[in-house]
Amino acid sequence: MDGQGASKQGEKDSAQVSSADWIAEVSHELRLPIANIKLLIETLLNGALDDKAIATRMLMRAQSEAERLQSLVSDLLSVEQLASARSEVQAEWLPLRKRAEYALESTSKLAKESAVKVELKIPNDFRVYANPTQLDQVLLNLLENAIKFTPAKGQVTIRAGEKEGVFSVEDTGVGMPSQEIPKIFQRFYRIDRAKTRGSTGLGLSIVKHILDLHGAKITVSSQEGKGSIFLLEFPSPKWARSYASE
Ligand SMILES: Nc1ncnc2c1ncn2[C@@H]1O[C@H](COP(=O)(O)OP(=O)(O)O)[C@@H](O)[C@H]1O
Ligand SMILES: [Mg+2]
Repeated sequence: MDGQGASKQGEKDSAQVSSADWIAEVSHELRLPIANIKLLIETLLNGALDDKAIATRMLMRAQSEAERLQSLVSDLLSVEQLASARSEVQAEWLPLRKRAEYALESTSKLAKESAVKVELKIPNDFRVYANPTQLDQVLLNLLENAIKFTPAKGQVTIRAGEKEGVFSVEDTGVGMPSQEIPKIFQRFYRIDRAKTRGSTGLGLSIVKHILDLHGAKITVSSQEGKGSIFLLEFPSPKWARSYASE
């Protein structure tokens, strides 16, 4: 099966690390926010509490470090669940528009706060053959990124309909340099760590893993200062393909 071939390849890229390496990598990522929180508390206890403005700033830093820890733990659970469910995807035909509307709901607060407009250009009858929970996870991660990396008054579009199984998440945001594009799917990778303090760098590695399980492809095109396009191609199930070509 085509999908299985793609999935094996993907496992080699993103999941086939020894558990010792994995634990080292994860503890390194967890250690940093913990060390930062400890340092902030120590500084507060050693006198910084007396200056209200400084104390508030430090507490806000500590809060964002704690939020990163929280996101890390939930993303790590996703990675772990995906790794154990690796062998077989329970897929079905899903109306993309409906699934995208769920993702839109979950990100509406973020979009409103960032003054970014999100538009769905998806025909009502457009379907994707995928696992529902995992497709939701893909849409949510891509939509969240698109909104997060788009300045106020920008626009995010989920577009589908030209080809079966093919859709894209597009934004008019900050974009990225072409040499960074291959790295963004690596675990914990963030292009600008300082600007993405609360985030984990795990989202796209989870997306890639899910797409590999489905034998689906993702292509990124991006221009700095102009925006990015994440193009996804989900294969139709084998039985539907042979049915169509007969
Ligand atoms: N739509 C986008 N526009 C610009 N950069 C992006 C976009 N999506 C992802 N990136 C870059 O890829 C990195 C990795 O993304 P991801 O794995 O989702 O991690 P996170 O969102 O936690 O930072 C981001 O930190 C960012 O640098
Ligand atoms: Mg993300």
